[in-house]
Amino acid sequence: MDEEIDKILYDAETIQARVAELAARITEDYRGEELTVVAVLTGALIFTADLLRRIPLPLKLDCVSVASYHGAAETSGEVKFDQLSLPDIEGRHVLIVDDILDSGLTLDAIMAKFHKDCGPLSVRICVLLSKRRARRKEIAADYVGFEIENEFVVGYGMDYLEKYRNLRYVGVLAERIK
Ligand code: IMP
Ligand code: MG
Repeated sequence: MDEEIDKILYDAETIQARVAELAARITEDYRGEELTVVAVLTGALIFTADLLRRIPLPLKLDCVSVASYHGAAETSGEVKFDQLSLPDIEGRHVLIVDDILDSGLTLDAIMAKFHKDCGPLSVRICVLLSKRRARRKEIAADYVGFEIENEFVVGYGMDYLEKYRNLRYVGVLAERIK
């Protein structure tokens, strides 16, 4: 797989160091609170696993599954919830964890759904990456690992056509692959 990557943006060590910093901030911010972390499948799996093991709080973990990409490299604009039941977050502080904030459509839809149907006390967002671009929904993440340029990245949970999620680093896919 490595030969299909043009450049490595963040190697495994750099990612782990940044994840530790984010975890430390989150731990301080939610100390003494009832926290539920909601991971956005599938891209956030690896980031969430590393992040949570560095947050020594009595938190709960849940997941949501949404689809907007349908295998393409640009979002279709429509966000669909794949799950029948939504997480039980009534009266809880919620931290949504996702891999990357791009157009903003996904996280905006999840936020809106939670506020409308689930009765959380608060909802914040943590992403590993935030793309510098004009968002289609004005949404800001509360915890951001790295700000990146508007290019398509894979690895550390993120895919292109379901491949590359298991890379230990975040990299830019070679143009010839897309
Ligand atoms: P948004 O709804 O456009 O903000 O897209 C968010 C979702 O699209 C993320 O959770 C990712 O799953 C996916 N995505 C956006 N940009 C990339 C990328 O550069 N590489 C891989 N997945 C991406
Ligand atoms: Mg995603």
